[in-house]
Amino acid sequence: MKAVVWHGLGDIRLDDVPEPTIEDRYDAIVRITTSAICGTDLHFVRGTMPGMKEGRILGHEAVGVVTEVGSGVRNLRPGDRVVVPSTVACGTCSYCRAGYYAQCDNANPQGSRAGTVFFGGPEAAGGLDGLQAEYARIPYAHVGLVPLPDTVDDAQAILLSDIYPTAWFGARLAEIGDGDTVAIVGAGPIGQAAVACARLQGAGRIIVVDGVSDRLDLARDQHAETVDFNAEDPVEAVLELTGGIGADRVIDAVGVDAQRPSHGPAADALREQAQQFDHEKDEAAPAQNPDGDTWVPGDAPTLAARWAVRMVAKAGTVGTVGVYPPQVQHYPFGEAFMKNLTLKLGNCNHRRYVPELVSMVATGRLDPTPLITRWTGTQDAIDAYGAFDRRETGWEKVALGVAGDGSVAPGLGETAGTGTATTAGTQGGMAAAGGPSA
Ligand SMILES: NC(=O)c1ccc[n+]([C@@H]2O[C@H](COP(=O)([O-])OP(=O)(O)OC[C@H]3O[C@@H](n4cnc5c(N)ncnc54)[C@H](O)[C@@H]3O)[C@@H](O)[C@H]2O)c1
Ligand SMILES: [Zn+2]
Ligand SMILES: [Zn+2]
Repeated sequence: MKAVVWHGLGDIRLDDVPEPTIEDRYDAIVRITTSAICGTDLHFVRGTMPGMKEGRILGHEAVGVVTEVGSGVRNLRPGDRVVVPSTVACGTCSYCRAGYYAQCDNANPQGSRAGTVFFGGPEAAGGLDGLQAEYARIPYAHVGLVPLPDTVDDAQAILLSDIYPTAWFGARLAEIGDGDTVAIVGAGPIGQAAVACARLQGAGRIIVVDGVSDRLDLARDQHAETVDFNAEDPVEAVLELTGGIGADRVIDAVGVDAQRPSHGPAADALREQAQQFDHEKDEAAPAQNPDGDTWVPGDAPTLAARWAVRMVAKAGTVGTVGVYPPQVQHYPFGEAFMKNLTLKLGNCNHRRYVPELVSMVATGRLDPTPLITRWTGTQDAIDAYGAFDRRETGWEKVALGVAGDGSVAPGLGETAGTGTATTAGTQGGMAAAGGPSA
């Protein structure tokens, strides 16, 4: 089968690899109809998340059809259409039972303290092959896989694999309550999804910070207030927009690949800290292999964290879902302490939120469709990775149409814009073309 395979930093390829087989009685095999590329995948290729093994299939987002189940899987049959949550968890241990699926005691073969298990990640994350492939082996399938009604199409469902659950989790971490003013740092797919999730959780006002204009446009389509960090100092802008108080809640949806502003007052203000960020960059990405302007690690690994702590109100909350790997050692701890902040962070407990999100989409309360700005066939996956990595205009969230057979083609334009928390009011120039079967 075809799969996107990690060979080294700056080196991913579309390879022919063997199809997976059942290895454990709780396994299932899923034939993938739609997959997607995530900002997390970029960390592995840029060098800001270490520990990848050559030959590992990438990807942790998928929708597909079950083709085979192990003897322990009693709730699914071949033919069932499912969404695959990105993290893997046993469903039995005390952590899973309490909803902390990302801290499962049993899923990681390296032991209960080894860390979150997810598809297509480093060896420390369980060493599982990923979902940017025609077929995938899903461990603990009886717990992980979430069945899909055909009223939820592939374009909607693929965003429920990782993007919306993480954004929902980020909004929960930020403790959003009725009427809160929420700032979201980062307008990538996670930041965009966080707009709808924050709104559904009660946010009164939503401010989105990024430096890429078409991403800010998409946030404005969702009627978030936008701040361009290359035009304004984002901390000053948020303070001004909030009467000098700051945002009640902040979500960091950037993580370790944060970039410095290239110009504007924020760039001027940071010039004196250049050396510190250079040092942090060496720490965050000790090895890297950029190809021109592609696969370049962020040059200010803790900048989003610093801005988050500065733009939040006293006694406010910062929820961090942007990824910071273990080698990142800096955080504005003293500033956070002096403001009596609440800080919450970590890997999403996907399985806790996916079923509810499926039901929210099925009932029309949430329509994630407009977030997908590109559909690409698997044959073009490597080029698509590059365009997404460079944040090229129109490459916000990239879905990979793997197989038309068994997919539910997106009903683009029909339901978009109708839910109370749709991701965009209009599809404007960002409309996705085609779909998994196109
Ligand atoms: N915690 C989890 O379980 C989980 C799950 C999925 C993704 N993530 C992480 O969430 C983060 C975002 O993912 P994504 O798919 O949206 O990635 P992405 O790379 O598309 O988005 C990052 C965005 O941040 C912007 N940005 C860069 N520097 C910035 C700065 N200084 N201030 C504000 N914005 C800045 C970029 O322009 C980009 O739009 C990644 O770190 C990803 O690994 C975490
Ligand atoms: Zn992801
Ligand atoms: Zn568990």
